[in-house]
Formats: sequence, C-alpha cells, structure tokens
Amino acid sequence: MKVRKAVIPVAGLGTRFLPATKAIPKEMLTIVDRPTIQYIVEEVVASGIEQIIFVTSEGKSAIENHFDYNFQLDSVLREKKKVVLGEELNMISNLIDIVSVRQKKPLGLGHAIWTARHVVGDEPFMVLLGDDLVLSKQPCARQMLNLFDDVGESIIAVQRVAPEQTHQYGIVEGEKNGRERTYKVTRLVEKPAPGTTDSDMAIIGRYILMPEIFDLLSRTTPGHGGEIQLTDALLALSKKREMFAYEFEGTRYDAGDKLGYLKAIIAYGLRHTELGEPFKEYLKETLADL
Ligand code: G1P
Repeated sequence: MKVRKAVIPVAGLGTRFLPATKAIPKEMLTIVDRPTIQYIVEEVVASGIEQIIFVTSEGKSAIENHFDYNFQLDSVLREKKKVVLGEELNMISNLIDIVSVRQKKPLGLGHAIWTARHVVGDEPFMVLLGDDLVLSKQPCARQMLNLFDDVGESIIAVQRVAPEQTHQYGIVEGEKNGRERTYKVTRLVEKPAPGTTDSDMAIIGRYILMPEIFDLLSRTTPGHGGEIQLTDALLALSKKREMFAYEFEGTRYDAGDKLGYLKAIIAYGLRHTELGEPFKEYLKETLADL
C-alpha cells in the first residue's frame, strides 16, 4: 500500500489574518520569497507524493494560478533574459500533478476532507494543513511515510504543548508503542475543555489516513464549534483499526497565527541561502539597539 495522494484543504476564510486576507487567500501570504502554501507543496514533493488535491472555495483561484504555468510571464521573462527566474517559476508548475475540488459550504475540516473522497478513492492518503509549517532535516511528511511503511495504519503527527494550550488543538491520548516517537492512539478529542485530558499531545496538521475515514466522515455529526470535525471521525476510526500518533522531529510554526507567522519569517529568513547571513547581522544589530 503506497501513499500516493495528499489532500490540502485551503477553503478556510482566514479571518485571523484580516485585513491582510480580505482579497488574498491566507495561504498566499509570503514567507521570505514564496507563499506559505508553496512550503507545504515542496514538503509533499520532497516526500515522494504523486498528486495533490486542493480543497478550495470561492476566492482561492490565486492558489491554483500560483502552481499553474503562466505563459505571458514566461515569455516576458525570456525576452528580458531572466531565464533562471523563468525556470524557477516553471519548476513550481511542474512540481507535481495538482487537482482541485470545491467545498461548497464551510462545514468544517472533516467536511473539507470528505469533499476529496472521489479523487482519493480507496487508498491511504495524506492530509496536510496549510497553517502548519514544519522545519526539519527530513520532511515531516517523509518521516510519517517511513513509519507508515512499517505500521500500515493511520498516523497522526503530534507535538507536545503546555497544558494551558491543549484547548486550542485536537488532543491525542495514547500509549507508548515500542517504536521510537510512536504511540498507539487510545482516544482523541477536539479542543478539550481545560482539565478534561491528561495528555499534552497536540495534533498538528499532518495525517496519513486509511480510506475508511470517508465513510466515517459521512456519518459524523457537527461537533466542536458546530463543525464536522476530522478529529471526531478519527476517534471512530481508532475504534475500528489501529491508529498511531507520531512525535515528529522538527520545529512547527503556526503560520495561521500572527505571532507564529512572524516566527516563521525569522526562522525561514535565517535559513535562506542568500539572505540568511545579512539577515542575522541585521537582527543582531536591531536587538542590540533595543
Ligand atoms: C485543526 C484541527 C485540530 C488541530 C489543528 C492544528 O484545528 O481541527 O485538531 O490541532 O488544526 O493546526 P484549527 O486550527 O483549524 O482550528
């Protein structure tokens, strides 16, 4: 069983980033020199996935255009002898096969994933959420696929969070599994009220899911916030088949949050091949002047 497809939901309104996201999809906000969604797509490509399925909504065509071939721009860049830049842009559109499906109503993350059921079909697949960027030596998605080769069951990427933050996440309860960084899932709860779970394992936006999830999603009733929650369908799936939580190696940035986004800009800026050094010098000087 090979994981060939990745579903990336991009239908959200991005209200946490208004007014910046009034006319621009939040996934198109820039970190250094590329939109946040491109980092996710590059992680997927580097992990060996063959097809991406974007779940979109009205006003998100900029994302589809970004990964498409732009004939006019390509000709202009060639005329101006900016071949390298032109090649880089073509590289983006050649990265991977991309299709999109439309989520007609904002009914929640679970509903967005369910919208992709016909394109995914009857095979295990990945889900990556556009807000969660992971900086790591080996791409987070690749780490998960390696574990999948071993366990052949659903895997949820988790990171430890402070107890006062658990109510902001889907939380996984589990038992140590014997494999490194891996837990067998015993219970999941979306955004638990403080004090209702002992676990500090928070779901970040990376999942490998067995296709049975679609049937379970179609039977999932609205949960936290009145939305159809992926976490609720995952709980149902965990009762039918084994499911694993995986504490990935790397640092996660919540690019959907203003402070998290600023942190991501600093982290990615410092690692940029050309800008890294001068940016570091600038930061040092700026901090010294405070
Ligand atoms: C979603 C999931 C949640 C997860 C989070 C990670 O929530 O429902 O389980 O912990 O992504 O970013 P959202 O952030 O969309 O409210």
